[in-house]
Amino acid sequence: MTGSSIYFPPSLQRYEPRRMVFSTWVDHLPFAYDLVEVLRPKLVVELGVYNGLSFFTFCQSMQENDIDGVAYAIDCWEGDEHTDAYDDSIYNEVAAHARDYYRGITYLLRMYFNEALQHFEDDSIELLHIDGLHTYDAVKEDFTNWYPKVKPGGIILFHDVMARIKDFGAWKFFQELEVEHEEIFKFDHGFGLGVLRKPGGQDEDSQLQQLLFSQDEEERKKLRQFYVHAAHFLEARRQAKRFKAQLGDKNAQGGQGKAKPTGEN
Ligand SMILES: C[S@@+](CC[C@H](N)C(=O)[O-])C[C@H]1O[C@@H](n2cnc3c(N)ncnc32)[C@H](O)[C@@H]1O
Repeated sequence: MTGSSIYFPPSLQRYEPRRMVFSTWVDHLPFAYDLVEVLRPKLVVELGVYNGLSFFTFCQSMQENDIDGVAYAIDCWEGDEHTDAYDDSIYNEVAAHARDYYRGITYLLRMYFNEALQHFEDDSIELLHIDGLHTYDAVKEDFTNWYPKVKPGGIILFHDVMARIKDFGAWKFFQELEVEHEEIFKFDHGFGLGVLRKPGGQDEDSQLQQLLFSQDEEERKKLRQFYVHAAHFLEARRQAKRFKAQLGDKNAQGGQGKAKPTGEN
C-alpha cells in the first residue's frame, strides 16, 4: 500500500478464529490479530471482556506469533446498562476457554475496573483495549484512569466509536481525542474502532503502524478499506468452511442412509 510495497498481513495468510461468539467486535478481528503481531506486546489489558471475542483474538495472535507476553481480562462479568445483566455462564465459559487454550498467558480479573488499577504499574501496558460501558462519562473515566498505565508508544483501542445509539458516547469522546492527539486513527466500519498511540517510545514502526499514523489521508483511507475487505473475506471463508462441513455431513448421512434394499441380508 505504501508506494510499491504490498500489505499482506498474517490475518490474511493464516488466521482462523478459534473462538467465535456473537459480538459487534467481529468486524475488527483481522486488524486485532495483525496489530498484536506487530506490537509484540509483553502486557495486554482489556477493560470489558464479556464473552471474550476481542480478548481471545489478542491471545490467539500472541500464541500463534510466538509472543512472550501476558494478557489480562478485566470485567465484573455482571453486565452493564448496555449489555444488560447476564448470568455466571458467560464467565464460566470464558474461564474454561482461557484454561483450555491460554493457560499461563491469560489472567482473568473478575472485578471493577477501578479496583484493578492498583495491580498495574504506570507506563507498563503495551496494548490497552477500552470496551466497558459506552456512555461518554464512562469511556472518559476509563481512559483518564488507565492512560497513565500505558507505556509511551503503547496503543489504546476504543470500541464503538461509530455507534450513535441510545446514550452511547464513545464516538463523542473519541472525537475530542482526535483534536488533541496526532497519532490517532479511526476504523469506521461496523461499530467503529479507535486507535490511539501514546506519545514516546523508541521502537521502529512496522508497516501497519506507518499506515495507521501516516499523514497521508489517502494511505489511511486505503487501510480502512483494506480491513473492511479483510473482515468480509474472513466471514466468507468461515461460511465456505461451514458449507463444506454441512455438505460433508450430508454425504456421510447419505452414505449411511443408503439402507440395504428390503429383504437383503
Ligand atoms: C461491551 S461488553 C465487552 C465486549 C467484548 N470486548 C467483546 O469482544 O465482545 C462490556 C463489558 O464490560 C463490563 N463492564 C462495564 N463496566 C465495567 C466496570 N466498571 N468494571 C468492570 N466491568 C465492567 C460488562 O460487565 C460487560 O461484560
